[in-house]
This record gives sequence, C-alpha cells and structure tokens, in this order.
Amino acid sequence: MDSSPHPVTVRKRGAVCLIVIDHPPVNAASHAVRSGVMQALLAAETDDTVSAIVIRCEGRTFVAGADIREFGQPPGDPTLPALCLRIEAASKPVVAAIHGTALGGGCEIALACHGRIADASARLGLPEVKLGLIPGAGGTQRLPRLIGVPAAVGMVATGRMMAAAEALDRGLIDAVATGDLTSDAVSFAEKLAGDTARASEGADAAMALPLRRTGDLPVPPFDAAAIATEIDVIERKARGQLSPGVGARCVLAAATMDLAAGLAHERGAFANLLASEQSAALRHVFFAERAASRVVALEGVAARPVNCVGVAGAGTMGAGIAVALAEAGYQVIVAERTQDAAEAGRSRIEGLHQRAAESGRISQQAAAARMAATIVGHDIAAFAPCDLVIEAVFDDLAVKQDLFAALSGIVRPDAVLATNTSYLDPNQIGAAASQPERVVGLHFFSPAHVMRLVEIVATGQTAPDVLATAFAVARRLNKLAVLAGCCDGFIGNRIFSSYRKQCEYMLEDGALPHEIDAAMEAFGLPMGPFAVFDLAGLDIAWARRKRLAATRNLAERYVRIADQLCELGRFGQKSGAGWYVYENGKRRVDAGVTTIIEAEAQRSGVQRRSIGADEIRTRIIAAMVNEGARILGEGMAQRASDIDLVFINGYGWPAWRGGPMFQADRMGLGTILEEVERMQARDGAGWEPAPLLVEMARSGRLFGG
Ligand code: 3HC
Repeated sequence: MDSSPHPVTVRKRGAVCLIVIDHPPVNAASHAVRSGVMQALLAAETDDTVSAIVIRCEGRTFVAGADIREFGQPPGDPTLPALCLRIEAASKPVVAAIHGTALGGGCEIALACHGRIADASARLGLPEVKLGLIPGAGGTQRLPRLIGVPAAVGMVATGRMMAAAEALDRGLIDAVATGDLTSDAVSFAEKLAGDTARASEGADAAMALPLRRTGDLPVPPFDAAAIATEIDVIERKARGQLSPGVGARCVLAAATMDLAAGLAHERGAFANLLASEQSAALRHVFFAERAASRVVALEGVAARPVNCVGVAGAGTMGAGIAVALAEAGYQVIVAERTQDAAEAGRSRIEGLHQRAAESGRISQQAAAARMAATIVGHDIAAFAPCDLVIEAVFDDLAVKQDLFAALSGIVRPDAVLATNTSYLDPNQIGAAASQPERVVGLHFFSPAHVMRLVEIVATGQTAPDVLATAFAVARRLNKLAVLAGCCDGFIGNRIFSSYRKQCEYMLEDGALPHEIDAAMEAFGLPMGPFAVFDLAGLDIAWARRKRLAATRNLAERYVRIADQLCELGRFGQKSGAGWYVYENGKRRVDAGVTTIIEAEAQRSGVQRRSIGADEIRTRIIAAMVNEGARILGEGMAQRASDIDLVFINGYGWPAWRGGPMFQADRMGLGTILEEVERMQARDGAGWEPAPLLVEMARSGRLFGG
C-alpha cells in the first residue's frame, strides 16, 4: 500500500474545515490516517474561525475500512474506537461526505459523525464478517441506533453493502448529494452549525448542544422473539463460522447495554475474533483473491477487445456460460448441432434467466433484455462476428478438435478460441486450430452462471494477450480466475482425484460413506464427498475410469467399490441409489453398500478397523496437499493460495478454513509429510511424497510464505 507522507490534509471552505484523507488505494484507516484525522479534528475544534467540519476522501472511495495489513501489530494511538468516540463527542458538527464505499472502520467513522451525506452511487457496509471479524469501532452499537436492530443484524451478519438510496430510506444517511458532494456536505455542515448556534444562544450554558450524536440515540423498539429466531438461523447457516452470530449478538446487546458497556462488549468480541484461526484464514483468503489475478508475465500486456462471445453447445454447461455472459452485458451467440438441440438449449437459457427474475434477483425487463442479447441457432457459421468463442461441447478430443478446425475457417484470425474441457489436453485441442496461440482453456464450474471459479489454462502456446483476454473476460463475468497449467484435471480436478481416491481407500480400510461425510461436514463442508458424488452422478467418473483402464498404473491401489455400485445401476441421486439410497428426496444409509464395502475389503485382504473423524480429515488434507505440492513443484499453479481459492470457490471448501494449503501450514508440514509417508507405505504407488513437500517440511518453510 502506498504510504503517502501526509495522508490527511486540512482545507477551509468559509467557516467549514475540510479534513481530507488521501491514502491510496482505498483510504484504509491506517495509523497515519487515524492520527492525522485526530490532530485535524482537535485543531478545528479550538479554531474560532471554524464552525463545522467535513471529513471526506480523495481518490476512488471513502475510507474502506481499518487497514487490514496493520492487524497483528500493536494498534497505536489513537485507536479507531477512540477516534470514533472523539468525533462523536466533538463540540462542532462533523459531517461525513461519502463516495465510493464506506466500509468497516470507514462506515464506523461515518456513523460517529453528526451527519452523513453520500453520492448517489456510494455504498455503505460492515463487511468485517467476511474477514472472520465483527465491527470493532462501534459499528454494532451505533448502526442499530440509526436503522433499528433487525436491519442492523442483517447488515452485520452478512456484510452486505447498502446503496445510498436504501441507506437514506432507512436513516443510515441524512441526504444523497444532488450536486457536488463536497459542496453539498459543506452546506449541510453549515446548516448544522447554524442550528447548533441558534440552540445554544437561548440555552442554559450547562445544556449539551443539540448535535445529533448517534451513540445518544435510543435503540428503536423491535420484536425480540423474531430477532432471537433470526440469530439462530444465522448461526445455523454459518456452519461453524463464528463471526456472523457473534456480530448479530453484539447488535442485540446494543438494546440492553448503555453505549459504553456495549462498546466494551463489542471490543472484547472483536479482539477474540481477531486472534482466531478463522479470521487468520479469511484474511488469507482476502489477500489470496487479490493476488490470484496477478500474473507476472502479463504485466503491461493489453487484452484483446471482446464484445461478442460465441458459445458452442447449449447443454447444462453451455447454457450456464451463456447466461453468465449475457448477465455481464456481452452479445451472445449460441450454436448447437441440430435444430432440436438448439430449441432445447434456448429454453434452458430462457429458464435460467426467468428463474433469476422470479427469485427477484433481476427484473423481468433485465431477463428479457438478456435473452434479447442472446441468439441461439444450429449453425456455427453464426460465430463469424465473435471476438471469442467458448466451446462447451461433449468432452471428447475428436469432437473438440473438429470444432476448432471448423471454427478456424469461420471466425476472424484474431478471435480467441477457448475450451471448457475438464480433463482433455487443451494443447491437443488447440493444435487443431489454425493459430494455436489464440487457444486458451476457460474451465468453468457447474452451474457456470452461479459458481465463482474459472480455471484459466495456458497451453504451451497461448499468446500473452490471449491469456490477458481470458482474465479480462473472467473479471467482467465477476468470476474468480486462477491460472492453471496444462495437466490432467488442471488444479481442481487433479487434486480432487487424489481426495476421491483416499476417501475410497478409507472405505476398504474401515470407514463408511456416512462417517466420512459426517467428518467433512463437521469440518464445514456443506456436503460430504459421498453425498456430492451421488449428487453429481457416479456414471461420469465410471466412464472415465473405463476409458483410462488400459493405461492405469497397475501398481497403484485400486478400489472397486464405486465400479460395483455402477454395475448395479446405482448412479447416485438420479437413479434413486448410489452411495446412499434416496426416498422422497431423503438420503438414507444403505446396509447393502456396507455389505459391498466389507466384501471388497475382504477380497483385497484389508483388515478393517474403525477410523475416527480426525484421521479422516488428516488423510484427506494430506492427500490434497501432497498433490497440491506436486502441482506447485511442476509450476502448474502460480502459488499455494491459488490452490486454496480453487477449493473454496469450486468445491465448497469453507472459506473460514482457508483452503487445504493454508490448513497444511497450520497443521505443520511435518505432520502432513508423516501422513503422506504412511500413505506411501500403505497405499503404494502414486502416494510418494511430493519433492516440494519434503523440501519444505525439512527446511521449516510454509506454503504461506
Ligand atoms: N486494508 C488494507 N488494504 C486494503 C483494504 C483494507 N481495508 N481494502 C482493500 N485493500 C487493498 C487491497 O488489498 C488491494 O491491494 P493490492 O492492490 O495491493 O492488491 C487494494 O486495496 C485494492 O483493493 P481491491 O483490489 O479489492 O479493489 P476493488 O476496487 O475491487 O475493491 C473494496 C475495493 C470494495 C474496498 C475492497 O477492497 C474491499 O472490500 N476491501 C475490504 C473492505 C473491508 O473488509 N473493510 C473492513 C476491514 S476490517 C475493519 O474495518 C475493522 C474495524 O471494524 C475495526
């Protein structure tokens, strides 16, 4: 972060003192900012020529929070809570002039002011929950005094931002600027100063000035039983993450405690969370997300312009991609192979837009506009005007190669060709195109309009500006893009394959599917692996195993249980049975599966024993980390934190656990290595410790740095 020598300056507009924060990139409330604002405030209070104060920011935003990079260091005076108290106690009116995003500590500064005025495009929020924290400078105590407990609980527990119009409606701000924000804020501050002066002229000297101090306001009455129920729901939905519930309960405390007690209570809870593993994990994720798009080789490389995007194939994946593209404002051209398939694809796409409208997420007009921007047909010649074509056709090399060869004769030579393959080699697909350097992998996760992750796969030949184009498109789609090298399964599916194998080994070794699922759900996964396999369908992986059977390493341990389930027609939820049985939508443990597992263990000569939840988790994490270390060692991922992001955003890994590589650091790489060595001894080929893991464990280094 830029540490400008004077992040806070003071200007005068008539009798109004402007305290201006200029601390790029997001005006975070660093120590220098806090002390600068405090000094300026104290000076303005004692300056007789000043009647009121406005706090505003230069650059793209109002203060976007406490400075996360300073967490872990001694706070340094003035602390943010002390600054907020001092602002609130000021003898002259203080007005916050808000543009961009007033978040966390920035929102708390605004809450402590006597007036708040915002640009029409500004947003306010307390997103600390996303960092495993709660507001620590009065947010949970002042917000409910302005907007009531129910709305404040909602904001604190979800971290959602509130747009200026809603903030005005709810009383979070006093006005939306109609002209220049600073001028409007100055006029507002002058008005408050005038009111104050008039009130004090006729007043008893001992009477407090009638400045509207948020902390003095009563908490509006609310339905306590309804809030208690809501907090229960918040805690249940958080699945082990602490901050949403703790934040909601602190808001509730504002109704029963006076301001000083409420602030102390909030500060204690904040300090506990700041020291927690959960917050460390979520802060790791925050910085990991910002690092993911940084590709050294792409610095200064301009992306090719993309306005019109083609999607080949309108099955589940193609339709999801088309919807995501239309949502992001692209002109979309979809082509299927036959008229019937195109019709089916059109109704699939229309259905997804319609569902978004019915859920209230978008308006009917927006749904109609997105459909109008999408042309669906059955002739790939329609792709001629496309700047980018994404193929989402059947995952078969010959099919994809034929398509890329045909596309080469249709689209402009500078149009980018992207493959959404999950397992095929994009190099081989790209070789069929007239210019392989314009080929890139864009691996979406299903459903593509919902899942945030996209793996961007660079083939050996992808041109830098093509790679930059892929990142630019992913950014416009609001996706989290992670760069992956060309290897079987890329980052996610390659590691997932080790995860899956180790889960199946554990069945033979003594665990049952529901025990493994329970262990991972207790860890924070929304669904255990076997329930997920059933949901996704067992037949796809079975087909792949059969395809690869001829080339499989016979020295590697192979568990046949999944094959046996498939041979019995148990393909998962869609066939009513898989690892579990399904009746009326309910999942039930099946004694028949236990029998198959026990018989297979016997056939393999494995003596089953009970495996506890801790061992289940350690084996899974160690299997993932070993493969992750191999991927890093081979240069298939740029950094360990990218691997964490893949699992958090593509496979439901709880963000508050920080991802498998983060977990490995916390567990100790020595512990992970010992577990992998046990795997090698027990499971044989394929489970050799990754050289990078060995090297790091022995030298005491961590994946985090
Ligand atoms: N502290 C330190 N650095 C921050 C920061 C913060 N609060 N917020 C953002 N940054 C940094 C980012 O790390 C990034 O740095 P980089 O360029 O070196 O990678 C840079 O600012 C720009 O951030 P983004 O790439 O995220 O920029 P966007 O324009 O996409 O988003 C934003 C801007 C909406 C402000 C987003 O950065 C954001 O959500 N920031 C976090 C806000 C937040 O969580 N605030 C609460 C902090 S905790 C707190 O306030 C505790 C208090 O209650 C006591």
